[in-house]
Amino acid sequence: MSVKSAFEHIVNRDHVYPFMVPKQASNLNVDKNILLYLEDISVSFDGFKAINNLNLYINDGELRCIIGPNGAGKTTMMDIITGKTQPDSGTAWFGQTINLLEMDEPAIAQAGIGRKFQKPTVFEELTVWQNLELAMADDRKVWTILNAKLNSEQSDMLMETVALIGLKENVGMPAGRLSHGQKQWLEIGMLLMQKPRLLLVDEPVAGMTHQEMDRTSELLISLAGRHSVVVVEHDMDFVRSLAGKERTVTVLHQGSVLSEGSMDKVQNDPKVVEVYLGE
Ligand SMILES: Nc1ncnc2c1ncn2[C@@H]1O[C@H](COP(=O)(O)OP(=O)(O)O)[C@@H](O)[C@H]1O
Ligand SMILES: [Mg+2]
Repeated sequence: MSVKSAFEHIVNRDHVYPFMVPKQASNLNVDKNILLYLEDISVSFDGFKAINNLNLYINDGELRCIIGPNGAGKTTMMDIITGKTQPDSGTAWFGQTINLLEMDEPAIAQAGIGRKFQKPTVFEELTVWQNLELAMADDRKVWTILNAKLNSEQSDMLMETVALIGLKENVGMPAGRLSHGQKQWLEIGMLLMQKPRLLLVDEPVAGMTHQEMDRTSELLISLAGRHSVVVVEHDMDFVRSLAGKERTVTVLHQGSVLSEGSMDKVQNDPKVVEVYLGE
């Protein structure tokens, strides 16, 4: 596909890519050091409570791991944070002043919440570099940005991101030729181009090799501090490598928090052991 037809393909798609939404200064207030508040959230699908009185608080700059068996409500929780699903009850605030339940998906992305879905959605025909360039643009500027010279701030940011995601050697390669793991990192890089304050990452290591998993863990850890990162993951070994000794792990089960604390604490919690043995 030529760059021009890829461009037409992109602007004609009805899907709103969060990374294409231009960022604007927001009235985010994190004076209490809490970036995300979910309180008493419930949502049912055909009478089935997928999320049941969920309470979750994410600190500014924190890397939080959320683990839980299949069907625990992890993806639904992300759908609620990003405005894809409206809860039946409860509240969701981004900092102290931004009410997420009054906003639609593009507005939430614009306020600084980026989401990485399970399946990578990079543009396979475009190079790694072009994918990252595109991620800086809103849809009206896509064509211009692919043809124009970047300013020095933009190219610095691009270089920095390419190094961070470990794709320096691959900048000129079409994204379609990257390994599965590399595509996942590229997509994380694309999200970073929009400088999200909160990054939600759903099962990033599914289908990755062990080496790719280790690299992903390093990457996500390196993002904490500058961003808050919520990683939802099914794989216990991966969560252990992410959480280390000091980070907080939240175990979700049947739409509620079953246990929360250090990895050691939750792993030795009899309630958690029971749920995981029962799988
Ligand atoms: N749009 C939907 N319609 C009906 N049921 C849904 C929908 N989304 C999720 N569910 C159900 O809600 C439960 C939680 O799903 P999900 O959030 O995907 O869990 P997880 O990501 O933890 O595996 C599952 O039983 C799932 O079948
Ligand atoms: Mg899921």
